[in-house]
Amino acid sequence: LFAGPSEFVKGVVAMSGLPAADRIEVCFAGRSNVGKSSLINALTGTKGLARASNTPGRTQEINFFTQGPELYLVDLPGYGYANAPLKVVEKWQKLLKQYLSGRQTLRRAFVLIDTRHGVKPVDEEIMKLLDSAAVTFQCVLTKADKVKASDREKILTQVRGALAKHPAAYPEIVLTSSEKGDGIATLRAIINGLL
Ligand code: GTP
Ligand code: MG
Repeated sequence: LFAGPSEFVKGVVAMSGLPAADRIEVCFAGRSNVGKSSLINALTGTKGLARASNTPGRTQEINFFTQGPELYLVDLPGYGYANAPLKVVEKWQKLLKQYLSGRQTLRRAFVLIDTRHGVKPVDEEIMKLLDSAAVTFQCVLTKADKVKASDREKILTQVRGALAKHPAAYPEIVLTSSEKGDGIATLRAIINGLL
């Protein structure tokens, strides 16, 4: 896995548009701007595969990317603040929730948390939803390059504390920087281990 290229398959705006559930999936969820699309680009080594931008609300559909013959990487719209009209945001949120709780082939959800900010109430909501749907989720801390090594321990402690409340949480936390490449090989190995 992660030896060959990834390809964009489709962007989905309704559950009826989901591709056939014939591959294992992992998805990347998190607040707007946390770095979901950038992480997919780093994992696949393909700049510009998933569209990233500094404008929160960049990803507006559920985007499916292949990796190898048996895996989809799934880029999700962000939750929380997005630079888009409320009605539109509500539509994405509904789809996001339907997807997270209703996709048979979803093997693991990666919940991305900004290393500078830690777990916020909206993250807790998503974690609760994943608990209810019995979807195992794992926390990935993003943008680690923006936080001094000496300050990271405090955030790790906060995130560990938050995860302890969630039965669907996988305990290992992965610290990453899509910019510098930290943690990317670790995350690839974790995804490999799910196949
Ligand atoms: P939405 O699709 O809007 O929900 O955002 P997203 O979670 O997909 O975030 P995206 O990948 O578009 O990144 C948001 C911004 O953060 C961009 O300007 C990225 O360049 C920046 N960014 C992402 N990852 C990193 C990182 O590891 N380090 C740094 N310094 N910046 C990052
Ligand atoms: Mg995005």
